[in-house]
Amino acid sequence: MYKYLKIYHSPKLSGSIEISGAKNAALPIITSTILSKNPVQLTNVPEVADVKTLLKLLKNLGAEFEFENHTLKIDTSSINNTTAVYEIVKTMRASILVLGPLLARFGHCKVSLPGGCAIGARPVDLHLKALKSMGADITIEQGYINAKGKLKGCDIIFDKITVTGSENIIMAAALAKGKTRIINAAKEPEVTQLCKILQNSGIDIEGIGSDEIIIYGSDGELLEFKPTQIIPDRIEAGTYLAAGAITKSKITLNNVISEHLEGILVKFKEMGFSFEEDNNNLTILPAKKIEPVKITTAEYPGFPTDMQAQFMAIATQAEGMSIIEERLFENRFMHVPELNRLGANISINGKVATITGPTPLIGADVMATDLRASSALVLAGLIAKGETNVHRIYHLFRGYENFVEKFKKLGANMEILQEDRP
Ligand code: EPZ
Repeated sequence: MYKYLKIYHSPKLSGSIEISGAKNAALPIITSTILSKNPVQLTNVPEVADVKTLLKLLKNLGAEFEFENHTLKIDTSSINNTTAVYEIVKTMRASILVLGPLLARFGHCKVSLPGGCAIGARPVDLHLKALKSMGADITIEQGYINAKGKLKGCDIIFDKITVTGSENIIMAAALAKGKTRIINAAKEPEVTQLCKILQNSGIDIEGIGSDEIIIYGSDGELLEFKPTQIIPDRIEAGTYLAAGAITKSKITLNNVISEHLEGILVKFKEMGFSFEEDNNNLTILPAKKIEPVKITTAEYPGFPTDMQAQFMAIATQAEGMSIIEERLFENRFMHVPELNRLGANISINGKVATITGPTPLIGADVMATDLRASSALVLAGLIAKGETNVHRIYHLFRGYENFVEKFKKLGANMEILQEDRP
């Protein structure tokens, strides 16, 4: 059956929703359990496709787990296979996060190269270069990374800031012999939570949350993991704030850590939106007039690339010209032609998109190309006249839990339709 998402022009949104656990924290923390000698309990794990795909991979390696009601109990002591096969890795490139832990624990592993995706080539050369400097023997044969060797701590300088690259090396260093110093490490909150779970399991780590992280490895000794609650998803939160913004609504998000959203809130405020905060709840208030904005995506704590498409949708309604520069990925403007199909006026020159607003949007058929682009098309569909059909919506369900249910709770009109298609 062919599925697509039909979005009707929605009246203002209202009310509140719960933000789920962060996909990009859950993924590395799940693979880090490969380093644990005891079964691990993780709570607030989002029930999204990417997490389910990773669990399928870990099951394929021999791990055992129960996953229900956002609680994951996983035991990796039964892992008896260290080959991460192409069939699974190709569907979710973050599977590369098994490389560091498998190599550190077993001294050998074979992991399919993840390949690129819509937003870019997504190489893993920096992951491999860092592991080689820790003493790993790495060869690439027929699309697989063959890694083996006993890891030894050393100084590692990343030429580029890489989130999963930093995470792979942090996990490898946790079981390596001696001290590893990672310079130019990623500082995303998801990296910080990974460091904290390792620190709580007995590893001595300095510089957590900074761009220089020092890890004193256990020299092969498996770790005692403590139960952990996954942090809230800052990108999911930003996406729903963007829904409030574009529909000029007042909505509240429960269970957010607004400190993780600072790079995003600054830009909302520049566009005329304001916020009310109490404890872990955050309310967005509509802008009298949506101001144009200049955005350059950057590593944390800068403006996140994962919010670039969503802000582009809002910018179509700003009164003036907005400029968005995508610095992290080479092809992350796939949503532009789709937004233009709805009536937006966006032009691209290399890494820079220029959005002239406000433009009335009119519903049409559009194609989702990647996780965050698909959410931008939904935002535009909320305010487009008539009906908007978003195709290839499997992208959405990779990283947004209960997406349609949460939007319906806020008063949006949308539904998943399915039909027989050749
Ligand atoms: C993580 O991807 C996130 N995924 C991405 O979120 C996010 O967009 C990205 O970080 C940037 O914030 C997860 O955490 C699972 P990078 P990652 O390595 O780690 C280049 C989403 O929507 N690079 O930080 O793969 C790379 O090509 C996803 O949830 C190399 O050149 O991104 C890119 O240009 C999409 N060589 C830049 O670095 C390498 O070895 C940043 O990539 C590694 C990366």
